[in-house]
Amino acid sequence: MKIYFSEEIDVTEKMIDDFKKAAHLCLSDEDIDYDRCELSVSFVDRETIRNINFEYRNKDEPTDVLSFPQYESKEDLPEEGSICLGDVVICTDKALEQAKHFGHSEEREIVYLFVHSILHLIGYDHMNEEDMQKMRQKEEQIMEVLHLRREHVVSDKELFQMAIEASKNAYAPFSKFKVGAALLSKDGRVFTGVNVENSSYGATICAERTACTKAVSEGVREFEAIAIVANESKVFPCGICRQFLYEFAPDLQVITGENENDLVKWKLSELLAEGFKL
Ligand code: THU
Repeated sequence: MKIYFSEEIDVTEKMIDDFKKAAHLCLSDEDIDYDRCELSVSFVDRETIRNINFEYRNKDEPTDVLSFPQYESKEDLPEEGSICLGDVVICTDKALEQAKHFGHSEEREIVYLFVHSILHLIGYDHMNEEDMQKMRQKEEQIMEVLHLRREHVVSDKELFQMAIEASKNAYAPFSKFKVGAALLSKDGRVFTGVNVENSSYGATICAERTACTKAVSEGVREFEAIAIVANESKVFPCGICRQFLYEFAPDLQVITGENENDLVKWKLSELLAEGFKL
């Protein structure tokens, strides 16, 4: 499958990988040759999708995703050569908003919209209840195989609460700065950690590295987000912890805040530009 992305966006290797896997799963039961397929994906803002929605569907409102199939039905697909399935247009603003609303990752939302759109390109629809059920079932099945299930997802607030809870176990007799971290792995598990200080100060380990070390020693290597809190207020990971986490997850979401209703969120690669990687 060839996927052509619109130029204006940085698409991560992980995203391309997720899209290809998702596309493969969408096509595998459908008797459509994955290797011959092509499609284009554009990521646009709210205003642009609103304009496209108006131009092609006469609906003057933004939407999350639009699909433009090249063929009316599967029967029309060419028997030989490449199969251009059509165009997918995803609104990143809407995807972000929906991810927040559902309390799951942006990645999950974008991949879900992509899956939804590809299914449209190959003839699925949700005009009546029966078709809608069929489409939803297929979508959830694919998301499950991709380990991007809905039910495992912990919200930012929950993760932050877990960090607060964890911080109570911090061993910080010297600084009195009690830090708690809660690290969410891609498979939905949460590993908490606290800072553990030492009379020989340099032997101290930070909460984030404790959490990450616990996870890695359990065989977990892929992470979604980390919430951090210190003495029940906002704190950002120190430089060593940024580099430590970068090893496993440059796209990690770093969440902190004064309280669960006032959270700030950064991508690790923004907090550590050009992190070191061998
Ligand atoms: N600390 C953390 O646990 N995480 C950070 O990112 C910053 C610092 C801990 C280490 C030490 O126990 C205390 O905070 C004061 O530096």
